[in-house]
Amino acid sequence: MNLVSTNDGTNTLYSVQFDECYHSTNDGALSETLQKHIIPAFTLVKPKEKITILDICYGLGYNTLATLYYCKLHKIDSKIEIISPEFDEELVRSLIDFEYPSEFDSLKEIIKELSEKFFYEDWQFKITIIIGDAREQLPKLSTKFDIIYQDAFSPKKNPALWSLEYFKLLYKLSSDEVIMTTYSSATPVRMGIWEAGFMLYNPPKSSVRSGTIASKSNLKLETIDMELKLTRNPNAKSLRD
Ligand SMILES: C[S@@+](CC[C@H](N)C(=O)[O-])C[C@H]1O[C@@H](n2cnc3c(N)ncnc32)[C@H](O)[C@@H]1O
Repeated sequence: MNLVSTNDGTNTLYSVQFDECYHSTNDGALSETLQKHIIPAFTLVKPKEKITILDICYGLGYNTLATLYYCKLHKIDSKIEIISPEFDEELVRSLIDFEYPSEFDSLKEIIKELSEKFFYEDWQFKITIIIGDAREQLPKLSTKFDIIYQDAFSPKKNPALWSLEYFKLLYKLSSDEVIMTTYSSATPVRMGIWEAGFMLYNPPKSSVRSGTIASKSNLKLETIDMELKLTRNPNAKSLRD
């Protein structure tokens, strides 16, 4: 695992196993996390007493930690429960020494607890890292999630977390008003999300132009018309296990 400095000055890692960085070096690790996941999700999610989040997958923990940072910054006082599968236990244990951006300085104790116990809880936040294969662990969950950060490695390198069968699993775990964010705009990915039953949208204009937002309900966003895409490209296919 090699440390990589990204364009916004924050650090990520390069995974030898997946031959890919954990974040876009162009966008920057923290910027990508906020722009592609946290800001669109919290702009669109309906305010609730308790918001449940599925973070696929924990990796360096940027999505989970930036959620805490964002909620504290914007004084969002909903209870937040985050569940995040991750099969690389050694990576999570090593994060106690990872050089995070200064935005996460106030989260040091939480980072320590998560890297040691894979669990953290206070009056507002409950975080559980499930050490194991997401495809084996997700079917065991009974939570209905309000937000899903779909942030696996690329479909080419991490196909098990982009297939139609996998998205059907996410559909079952989604609340009626779920907001799913992903950086991918690839047609086979969108086909899989759509065939699983989600509606697809372009990310809000204030956010990034690439990526996809998915939900079970109507959102005030530009719809992606998959029927039309399919008439234009009849060979478009979702990825399969
Ligand atoms: C792109 S990284 C996630 C980055 C993360 N969201 C962050 O903020 O740092 C993808 C992560 O998925 C994990 N992963 C890949 N396939 C998995 C699987 N089947 N089950 C559990 N974790 C998996 C990898 O170990 C890696 O940590």
